[in-house]
Amino acid sequence: MPKEALSILDERTHATYEIPIHNGAIRAMDLRQIKTGPDDFGLMTYDPAFMNTASCRSAITFIDGDKGILRYRGYPIEQLAERCTFLEVAYLILFGDLPTAPQLKEWVGQITHHTMIHETTKKFLEGFRYDAHPMGMLASTVAALSTAYPESRHVHDPELRRLQIMRLIGKMPTIAAYTYRHSLGYPYVYPDNELSYTENFMSMLWKMAEPKYAADPVLARALDILFILHADHEQNCSTNVMRSVGSSHADPYLATAAAAAALSGPLHGGANEEVLRMLDEIGSKDKVPAYMEKVKSGQLKLMGFGHRVYKNYDPRALIIKWAADKVFEVTGRSAKLDIALELERIALEDDYFVKRKLYPNVDFYSGIIYQAMGFRPDIFTVLFAIPRTVGWLAQWEEMLGDSEQKIARPRQVYTGQAVRDFMPLEKRGVEIATPVV
Ligand code: CMC
Repeated sequence: MPKEALSILDERTHATYEIPIHNGAIRAMDLRQIKTGPDDFGLMTYDPAFMNTASCRSAITFIDGDKGILRYRGYPIEQLAERCTFLEVAYLILFGDLPTAPQLKEWVGQITHHTMIHETTKKFLEGFRYDAHPMGMLASTVAALSTAYPESRHVHDPELRRLQIMRLIGKMPTIAAYTYRHSLGYPYVYPDNELSYTENFMSMLWKMAEPKYAADPVLARALDILFILHADHEQNCSTNVMRSVGSSHADPYLATAAAAAALSGPLHGGANEEVLRMLDEIGSKDKVPAYMEKVKSGQLKLMGFGHRVYKNYDPRALIIKWAADKVFEVTGRSAKLDIALELERIALEDDYFVKRKLYPNVDFYSGIIYQAMGFRPDIFTVLFAIPRTVGWLAQWEEMLGDSEQKIARPRQVYTGQAVRDFMPLEKRGVEIATPVV
């Protein structure tokens, strides 16, 4: 059997080194011994944007980007989306196994018990302007929960951690719905403990004067499936933020708020909102070819396309396309779907996209479903944040229990000025005459 090791010859010193390989990776710290002399700091790797650096070991989510595979705790996403509820999947992601019937009952009861938010948090939300973006309101309000639960800073207490996890999963839909009601000027609707996680969310969003909100079961199930698809995605930008902020032992509310901030960007979770804007801008199917030319000439990005890891069809996008058909049976077909399908058809045949392995990602079709269900585009990323909170918290838990993890602190390659003497204010900007020799 070949040895699991890497031999390195340093041409600068002619020294050779043997670096062990574990799980297809070498430890960056093993490179530090490679030095030109005693004063040399040692070799580092340079990897902007973590293109090829594993920052942790994780047993939560498996992705094979070339084959288009996604699994939570070993279960294929397709099976989970078809057979589970979101809270069942949340349990699986957090605790490693699917719950038994009593475990699930207890878990659903615990989450339901934590859906209320403190009245002062409600007042906090009232301070936002009517046109505040829901993601800004969500991230700030989640951060504010840190002040309501000061014990959450004891991040080494497993019982207290579990309590904050239940609170966050329970309260996220409530805060999300309140950001929406706030922007419309509608009164907030209290959670209804008799409803399922997604039905209750829909009730808090859309209930008006009726005594009890009755969610359409097809739409509630579609939302549940969308939540399952968004629950975790290993070391993406926002999860990396969650782990990084959590590594300083900040409390989970502040870490989750930071992760939500990362999610809001248009290259990450904010892409679903951008896809809808793009489809509106294109306007009709016949304008798609001209738009694609602009993308190919580098003037625009095709939002909802491309992925750092998937170099094949995003498996979540396939399931979303299937769920879209079910939703459209209830809501009627969205005209935007024709534009999206035409964009996809051209992209999958065009050399520009084929060569770069650009396929639709999770955000390409989700916005069309959300809009058909009655959601406004500016709340789409909030709909992503609710289920991803589960993934963030599972990764946070795993990070805190990993004895190899420390405070996240990357190195840099310094490219600035060498040492120079301080310049007094009166001398700055004054040209110093070159002495005549
Ligand atoms: N449209 C047009 N060209 C693209 C696109 C796109 N959407 N995405 C990548 N490319 C091109 C890019 O210009 C580059 O071309 P070249 O080699 O000629 O310079 C090549 O493909 C490789 O792209 P990259 O930017 O190096 O890839 P990345 O891994 O750094 O970026 C990405 C991944 C998702 C940020 C990027 O594909 C993108 O900006 N997509 C649009 C935004 C989007 O849909 N984001 C949601 C991602 S999935 C859900 C989530 O994570 O939240």
